[in-house]
Amino acid sequence: MKRSLKQKVVSSLLAISLTAGLAPLGQAKADSPSENGKVSPIIEKVDSNRAIEHVRFLSETIGPRPGGTQAEQWASRYVGMKLKAMGYEVEYQPFAVPDQYVGFIDSPLSHSRNWQTGAAPNSLISTEAVTAPLIFVPNGTKLEEIPNEVNGKIVLFEKGETVEDYNKQVENAVAKGAKGVLLYSLIGGRGNYGQTFKPRLTKKQSIPVFGLAYAQGNAFKEELAKKGSTVLSLKARHESNLQSLNVIAKKKPKNSAGNEKAVIVSSHYDSVAGAPGANDNASGTGLLLELARTFQNVETDKEIRFIAFGSEEMGLFGSEHYVDNLSKQERDRILGVFNADMVATNYDKAKNLYAMTPDGSTNLVTDAALNASKQLNNDLVLQGKFGSSDHVPFAYAGIPSALFIWMGVDSWDPLIYHIEKVYHTPQDNVLENISPERMKMALEVIGTGVYNVLQKPAVQKEQKAA
Ligand code: BES
Ligand code: ZN
Repeated sequence: MKRSLKQKVVSSLLAISLTAGLAPLGQAKADSPSENGKVSPIIEKVDSNRAIEHVRFLSETIGPRPGGTQAEQWASRYVGMKLKAMGYEVEYQPFAVPDQYVGFIDSPLSHSRNWQTGAAPNSLISTEAVTAPLIFVPNGTKLEEIPNEVNGKIVLFEKGETVEDYNKQVENAVAKGAKGVLLYSLIGGRGNYGQTFKPRLTKKQSIPVFGLAYAQGNAFKEELAKKGSTVLSLKARHESNLQSLNVIAKKKPKNSAGNEKAVIVSSHYDSVAGAPGANDNASGTGLLLELARTFQNVETDKEIRFIAFGSEEMGLFGSEHYVDNLSKQERDRILGVFNADMVATNYDKAKNLYAMTPDGSTNLVTDAALNASKQLNNDLVLQGKFGSSDHVPFAYAGIPSALFIWMGVDSWDPLIYHIEKVYHTPQDNVLENISPERMKMALEVIGTGVYNVLQKPAVQKEQKAA
């Protein structure tokens, strides 16, 4: 298991370069951050508590927000209404997304067990509940490992390693008369705890088959151990003809000709099924909303744009749709994109705020962030190489962009990196995964970087070229 995980890591997109210009300015005092006498007015204005209130609303009041679902739509309205109330011009950009298959588990023994999971498209998808006692069965890829008591029950398995393995578990349970099957994953793709998933069944089944997160499977297992028995109700929904939305807020400069250079702050506001997505990525969206408030009255000759992307977790759908629909002229207007994704984890090993580009190169955005960090006398900002978020479509279109994310990278081996184990799981909640201090630092660094780009004279580039 360990070796295959490392192989995965090695062959992944990651090869962090620890090339950071981070020597703090000796003279700057902690209480008056300045570079060449320049003070950032942003740090006085940003309020991490306000950002975290948004994180709470998105992750607790709304909860998991899979792309195209009603919860995602609710989140888009929340973000859009907040931006409108701040005086921004707000537009919702719709786009189509693939079907979702969501499973719901209700356990009468505990109100906290009304959990969202992935449902196998090839299993029974019904809003009529299948209710039965739960039984945990170890292994299960061999028929003789399934006891006869499985008959009439919902079976909980640790998901077999391969698709083939877990299909055997399902088929064996069905052969023994199971009324439902729950497969829970032990480990995720980046060494995180297992997340919910959509089981891929090779044979159609007439009972519900769900893919659970590790935390969900484990909690049911513990409940069984403690109480001896428990009854679950399973329901599933196939959602089709789904639409997701990008929320786009703009503020044009006074007396705008409509063609000024633009600076973009972005985040994705969706989450994976079953995950409240407090850090991934209510945190980036909370930061976006708080920076929008901070920049309401900032004087600039440029356009400032805040974009909350939908359906990032389905495959960067929102940002791809956005970039695909920009004309050449519109692309050329964009100076840079500051994309915040996972900006407030409390995971102690994720100790640096990285400005990541897909190929590890520096650009206006990474430079702005590293300069802001010097200006703030903050030595926690580094530059690195990473894809996997909404900065990627911009980078591919030649638009300077960077992903901002808290991560830890061991210097002795740049291929090993630390990211909180709870991301993409039910444990990615405010209580277990949010740090107000990390949010504050991200607000200050990104806010100061954006501010400095907005303050640069618009003619500077042309003068240099002449
Ligand atoms: N926030 C994550 C990206 C991430 C996670 C970066 C951990 C670094 C460490 C993002 O929301 C995500 O999960 N992206 C997908 C990629 C996408 C193309 C579906 C991923 O990495 O699986
Ligand atoms: Zn994310």
